[in-house]
Amino acid sequence: MAQLAFDEATGRQLEALYEIGDAVRRRDLVRAALGARSGERILDVGCGPGFYCAELLGEVGPGGSVVGLDSSPQMLDLAARRCEGLGAVELREADASSLPVEDGSFDGALCVQVLEYVTDVRRALAELHRMLRPGGRAVIWDIDWATVSWHSEDHPRMARVLAAWDEHLVHPSLPRTLAPLMRSAGFEGVRMQGHSFATAEFDREAFATALMPLIESFVADPDRVGEADAAAWAAEQRALGEQGSFFFACTQFCFTATRPLEPPAAQRSRQAPAGTHRSSAGPAA
Ligand SMILES: C[S@@+](CC[C@H](N)C(=O)[O-])C[C@H]1O[C@@H](n2cnc3c(N)ncnc32)[C@H](O)[C@@H]1O
Repeated sequence: MAQLAFDEATGRQLEALYEIGDAVRRRDLVRAALGARSGERILDVGCGPGFYCAELLGEVGPGGSVVGLDSSPQMLDLAARRCEGLGAVELREADASSLPVEDGSFDGALCVQVLEYVTDVRRALAELHRMLRPGGRAVIWDIDWATVSWHSEDHPRMARVLAAWDEHLVHPSLPRTLAPLMRSAGFEGVRMQGHSFATAEFDREAFATALMPLIESFVADPDRVGEADAAAWAAEQRALGEQGSFFFACTQFCFTATRPLEPPAAQRSRQAPAGTHRSSAGPAA
């Protein structure tokens, strides 16, 4: 069954979703974790409608630059509109598993809620590692969708909706295995922080309510839960909201890591066994 298509319709829904308070809070957390500095060159893998690219241009300033890559041309169009006139940005169509950028050419990289859609995560991580300079920083953010706790008085229908929604991506619980995958890609200092997005109100600024139109349209497919059940599910959530009985919680995970610094030349030659040719010394990509 096809996963979520990042087309024009999804683009419009994501643009609305990324304006809400929870999305602003998430971007603040991501940018704080990345700590972009004036003059740096930053890569955004799976840049979507370009909110991070636009904000990061302000952080790297006129001496810095941002490259946004995405596999969806429709997302790149939105990103181009958002970043127009803001600074040195380059937006390119590319797959996360094959980045059209030079080795070691970025100070920092972010990849927010993208790897969960990518089939070959190992390859995407190897690419992310390859294009960072030694000492360069990566921030990867994904959701474990199994952490969703969502109140309903119709448990079987809620379970069917959430199971159908799991089909919108390739890896519904990627954060569970991401730290070892990052280490085997060559990253060091891998750290993880979980962030709860929870609300007991039908709050338009919360991920839960803002996600509902996307979920409803995806699961309404006749091969999933069908239009009638999807509409009934959404109607129940609105009714629970009016009664003051709405509840949603989920945990999203922020991973940070660096590409190791190459050992200084003197140390490298001390480490090399006698007679070993060291021209290929350096961290594994
Ligand atoms: C949920 S959106 C996140 C957008 C952006 N990172 C943000 O948080 O604002 C996922 C994005 O990943 C992109 N994407 C999905 N699979 C991809 C792949 N294999 N390579 C590159 N981009 C991909 C989609 O086109 C979409 O723009």
